[in-house]
Amino acid sequence: MIYLDNAATTFPKPDEVYNEVLDCMKNYAANPGRGSYDMAIKASHKVTETREIIAKLFNISDLFNVIFTCSATEALNIGIKGLLKRKNHVITTCMEHNSVLRPISHLKKKGVECSIVRADQYGFISPKEIEKLIRSDTKLIVVNHVSNVTGTIQNIDEIGEIAHKNGVCFMVDAAQSAGVLNIDVEKSHIDMLAFPGHKGLMGPQGTGGLFIREGIKLTEFKSGGTGSNSFSVDQPEFLPDRFESGTLNTPGISGLNAGIKFINSIGLKNIEKHEMELTEYLIRNLKNKDYVKIYGHELQNRGAVVSFNIDGIDSSDVAAILNVKGICVRNGYHCAPLVHEIIGTKNRGTVRVSPGYFNTIEDIDKLIEAVVEINKGKI
Ligand code: ALA
Repeated sequence: MIYLDNAATTFPKPDEVYNEVLDCMKNYAANPGRGSYDMAIKASHKVTETREIIAKLFNISDLFNVIFTCSATEALNIGIKGLLKRKNHVITTCMEHNSVLRPISHLKKKGVECSIVRADQYGFISPKEIEKLIRSDTKLIVVNHVSNVTGTIQNIDEIGEIAHKNGVCFMVDAAQSAGVLNIDVEKSHIDMLAFPGHKGLMGPQGTGGLFIREGIKLTEFKSGGTGSNSFSVDQPEFLPDRFESGTLNTPGISGLNAGIKFINSIGLKNIEKHEMELTEYLIRNLKNKDYVKIYGHELQNRGAVVSFNIDGIDSSDVAAILNVKGICVRNGYHCAPLVHEIIGTKNRGTVRVSPGYFNTIEDIDKLIEAVVEINKGKI
């Protein structure tokens, strides 16, 4: 089996991740932050250590400003729905995933106003276009760092600078970039960073997190026991407890801990380099086929996500044939509906290939061979 759907979730995970999850389940999966016996303390320490390495990875000065969530989607919901109130204005882009567009659509029905910036044909957003849309009631700019359809990398440094200069909260959806690209919340003036644990960070599914800058007030997302202030019936105000009611996913967080340590041992630069070598090889070998249309910019400012179509064949048929050949890719709209208006794939979606750290050039060769065969088979 050749797995090329790392934009959906990375697979396989490093052995260290499997081993840590199992070790946690068998030896220290007590309830973190609750008991005062050794096993519960060990679980708490693991959670705190994970918060610490996440904070370090994204240059977050206070580890308690990182909260654990079950996914990037949950993190985006906490940030977007927690910040925006009736009559507030939010700016976002047509490159967003539904994990941004749907919370905003929900809020629009409650009186929040939204402007959506269009991208160019490659998926790039002009920071200047964002700046033009800022109004006195603009509360939030939320931008996808790397597109899960075209791989386009947005200029978050410049957008962050604009948001900062105008006193607008800047939120980044790092679903495709966390664990692959360097993200520095200070350098990019990021006020809220939503990230999944199970993609580039190599952790198990059911993990993710949100960085919330000091001073940003969000309404409660869920209320309940936190192991702190237990005599009070009111939700704690302080982070991370305000957003972490209920038992945490300790085995998942332990696995995420091992995933991040693995990434740190390889180095982000090396991971990016490997993924981009595969991506460039793939693009070079697809682009010389006149029956293949690739979307997004060829090589500049792009991540390891490549969408394409084969003339005359539906993306779902291509993915189904690839599956029979043992190659896993995603097809369709990838939960990012507005991107397809930009790249002209509104009625067909795309075939999406997303190489990961564990893929090889041989995997890409097999995919390319399969594309050639699929094209021959259509005639
Ligand atoms: N957002 C994930 C993807 O793009 C699931 O496949």
